[in-house]
Amino acid sequence: MRIVLVGPPGAGKGTQAQYIAANLSIPAVSTGDIFRANVSQGTPLGREAKTYMDAGNLVPDEVTIGMVRERLAQPDVAGGFLLDGFPRNTAQAKVLDEILAENDTELDVVLELKVDDSEIIQRISGRRQCRANGHVCHILTDAPKVAGICDECGSELYQRDDDREETVRHRLDVYKEQTEPLVGYYSERNLLLPIQATGPVKEVTERAMTALREFG
Ligand code: AP5
Ligand code: ZN
Repeated sequence: MRIVLVGPPGAGKGTQAQYIAANLSIPAVSTGDIFRANVSQGTPLGREAKTYMDAGNLVPDEVTIGMVRERLAQPDVAGGFLLDGFPRNTAQAKVLDEILAENDTELDVVLELKVDDSEIIQRISGRRQCRANGHVCHILTDAPKVAGICDECGSELYQRDDDREETVRHRLDVYKEQTEPLVGYYSERNLLLPIQATGPVKEVTERAMTALREFG
């Protein structure tokens, strides 16, 4: 299955991507995680992306598209994937269609996670992420068993530089201006599957899995 996960910052894309991808035995590919890995390794790509990320802006398309093109050429995604954080605007969506068409494939579904702005701010302010694998938790709603340590892999948890409240508000504006139009783009092609992404994490996963099964 080839799935795109779309939704505002803090909607739970990273959280749900892990579980949905595991349930479907497909790799989850997160452009945010790839950028953050490059930033922490100090690569030229990471240095270029960091300025945009810290300001809450999108990394320019020519940088992002090149990176995704390379990732989607890897053998592990040949049989399917779950894309988290890409496409982020209509230009990226068109390129994704082209990349898939070059391989005689196409998208199966675009799962939209819906959450209100007020909950987003609360979720992001408590978010912690692990350095080794990008696993996500929340200090109140999904607290790690040992403070500061990832439950999944034991590595150190940190707070993202772009998770300051003013940057989060700007990321929400960027989402509404640049990414939300994708909802219409995919809806017109009958690929859009919206679900309410509030309530316990497990319930959201179950809702997503049921919706995906019913979608076909
Ligand atoms: P990216 O990492 O993709 O950030 P984002 O889209 O802003 O999304 P987030 O990672 O903030 O949130 P999420 O939806 O994954 O939520 P999460 O699961 O963590 O991108 C970062 C930056 O990289 C961008 O700003 C841009 O600069 C650049 N970039 C990336 N892709 C790009 C592209 N294609 N083009 C250009 N630039 C790009 O959950 C949030 C919190 O809520 C966590 O603490 C979690 O524990 C908690 N939570 C999750 N589910 C629930 C629940 N059901 N109930 C309560 N709490 C919950
Ligand atoms: Zn971890």
